[in-house]
This record gives sequence, C-alpha cells and structure tokens, in this order.
Amino acid sequence: TSPLKVALLGGGVVGTEVARRLLGRAADFERRVGAPLELTAVAVRDAQRERPGIPAALLTDDVDQAMAGADIVIELMGGIDEPRRAILAALDSGASVVTANKALLAAHYGELMAAADSAAVRLEHEAAVAGAIPIIRPVGDSLAGDEITRVMGIVNGTTNYILDQMDREGWDFDRALTTAQELGFAEADPTADVGGHDAAAKAAILAALAFHTPVSIDDVHVEGIASVTADMIETARAQGFAIKLLAICEKLVSEGRAGVSARVYPALLPREHVLAQVSGAFNAVFVEAEAAGSLMFYGQGAGGAPTASAVLGDVVSVARRKVLGGRGQYEHASTATLPVLPISA
Ligand code: NDP
Ligand code: HSE
Repeated sequence: TSPLKVALLGGGVVGTEVARRLLGRAADFERRVGAPLELTAVAVRDAQRERPGIPAALLTDDVDQAMAGADIVIELMGGIDEPRRAILAALDSGASVVTANKALLAAHYGELMAAADSAAVRLEHEAAVAGAIPIIRPVGDSLAGDEITRVMGIVNGTTNYILDQMDREGWDFDRALTTAQELGFAEADPTADVGGHDAAAKAAILAALAFHTPVSIDDVHVEGIASVTADMIETARAQGFAIKLLAICEKLVSEGRAGVSARVYPALLPREHVLAQVSGAFNAVFVEAEAAGSLMFYGQGAGGAPTASAVLGDVVSVARRKVLGGRGQYEHASTATLPVLPISA
C-alpha cells in the first residue's frame, strides 16, 4: 500500500515528541495502520533552529508548503487564527486533521466540524482535553447512547502542579509556575492556565460533546488560581482541605428550564476526596450518566510525551480509515507480531 503523507504543524513540546515517535517507530505504525506513515514536513516558526530527533531537511517555516499533498495534517502550533486557517485549508484539500488545540476548538468547534463533515474527512482532537487520558472518545462516542448528566474534574495540569507543589512542598507560586513551564506543561502564554481559560476551553469541549449542544468558551464561567495565595493553601491544609481548580459541566433544570452549565473555579476539597489526591500535572475526570452510573478517568494531563500518545492514537485512527475505508475494525489477530505466552503455574 502506498505511504500516507503526514504533515506536522508545530515542532515544540508536543510536536517534537510526535515527530520522534513517528520517525522512530515507523515499522510499528505501518503494521498498525496497514500502510507506511511518511512524515513529509514539520512546520515551525524558526526553521533554522535544531530540534532533537527531527531531521533538518523536514523543517520549514511555510505552513502551506508543509501541508501540500498531505493525507493527514497534525496541528500542534497553538494559537487561533493561523491554526484555524491551516486546518480549514487542510480539510478542504481532503486531508484528515488531528489537533490538540483546545483554545481553537472551544472558539470554533461548529465551523471546524462542519468543514470536516462537508469534506467527508475526520477532525480528531483526543489530545485537546486531559493530555494522555482518553476522554473525548468516551464522552463523544462510547457514551453517546446514554444520558450524561455531569462531567467534572481536574483538567489543567499546570494549575494542579502549581497548587500541589505549593501545598505539599511549600513552594512559592513563581517557582511552581516556572517549573511547570520547564516541564512542558504550561501553554505558550501561561496566563491561559493560571487564569482558568485553558480549563474553560476544555470544559466547553466536554460540555458540547456530553450534552450534544454547542457550548463555547464564552459560555463558561471562569475563575482561575491567580487569587489563591500560599496562606489560603496553608489554612486549607491545616483544616483538612486541599484547593483544586475544578471544571464542572452539568445538565440542570433552572427556573423550570432545562439547560447546561459549565464553570471553572478553585474549590476546597476534603483531603481524603479522590480529587484532592490528584498530584502533579495529573488530571482526573468523573463522568456521570443515567445508565452507566459514575465513571472515572485519570492520568497524565499535560506534557510532551503524554500528549503525543493521544495525538498519535488519533493519527493511527484516521490513517486506518484512509487505508481501510469502511472495512476496518480494530487491529486484529492477523496483524499480531508477538506470540501469546503460556501462563506458568
Ligand atoms: P509549543 O509552544 O512548545 O510549540 C509550538 C510549535 O508551533 C513551535 O514549534 C512553533 O515554532 C510552532 N509554531 C507556532 N506558530 C507557528 C506558525 N504560525 N507557523 C509555523 N509554526 C508555528 O507548544 P506545545 O507543543 O506545548 O503545544 C502545542 C499545542 O498543543 C497547543 O495547541 C497546546 O495548547 C496543545 N497542548 C499542549 C499540551 C502540553 O502539555 N504542552 C497538552 C495538550 C495540548 P517555533 O518552535 O519555531 O517557535
Ligand atoms: N497547559 C495545559 C495544562 C496542557 O497544563 O493542562 C494540557 O492541555
């Protein structure tokens, strides 16, 4: 089968991890997809700067040139205007798109999904909410036959890392934020994290999927952690509480009218509460649905490698569809390369 051409837009924290894995594990991807995935270009702002693991010949500062002829475009640039333009162009050209860009999706979800539908291609975004944790597909697909009533939890790794380091290690805010940036958890502009806007974008995406209704970031009530001081965290701790930035999306009846509420704010949780124990840049999301009951999703919510995991899962998924059309189910035994070992008594 001829190779699928993959263009990567963005070679930063996440993009570098994605490129390294695509290039380093090419044979695994080929087996899983049924065709080689050929990384043809990596678009960055500064194409002269070396990126570990990315051949210099792949680097370009020309986004349109990078996307030319691509079957799959992976958008990991961040921002709104340029990724929106690039994604719409990619979809229009017949490429499927994978993005981790929650800020863009929370502002232009309807427009982008409509463009993907009209081009009959996929726009996948598992990495846009909660890093490595599979949550988009469970909420959007697996639970689509149920009635979700509530989605709530910790969806921003940077603020959870900051609050956790201040609480458990006694770090000051600036040290915790700087370290979160060094570890690749924070957004290019970390005020999106600290101000709660990143969590609000994720809340909007989750609410839209969970409740089958358009929800944008402007519909989300947002309070960030800028006003949370070391003294507040210490006082809360002394009284058996932890401060956590929560995102809560609910289906409500208010004044006789059914509707949706989405909000993000720092909350006091008893230290024994399971969400109070989510440490570092981990995320945890509870989903409550009428038939399924309560489900919990937990794992690494930020960082290059965890996010690359979710991005690459989407890449494999859209690539399989391109190769197999309607025929493909999950990878099955005929493609297995490892023996099944007997269990010794
Ligand atoms: P970075 O800032 O580390 O990387 C952004 C990359 O995009 C850089 O390589 C930059 O080039 C390139 N870029 C930016 N603008 C342009 C442009 N106009 N033309 C060409 N290239 C451009 O961001 P991250 O990797 O951390 O994040 C990427 C996306 O993933 C964002 O949407 C973010 O919200 C999302 N995300 C990030 C997570 C994380 O933990 N970091 C987790 C989940 C989602 P150059 O290097 O030359 O500046
Ligand atoms: N800045 C984001 C966070 C990245 O800290 O959660 C993951 O979406």
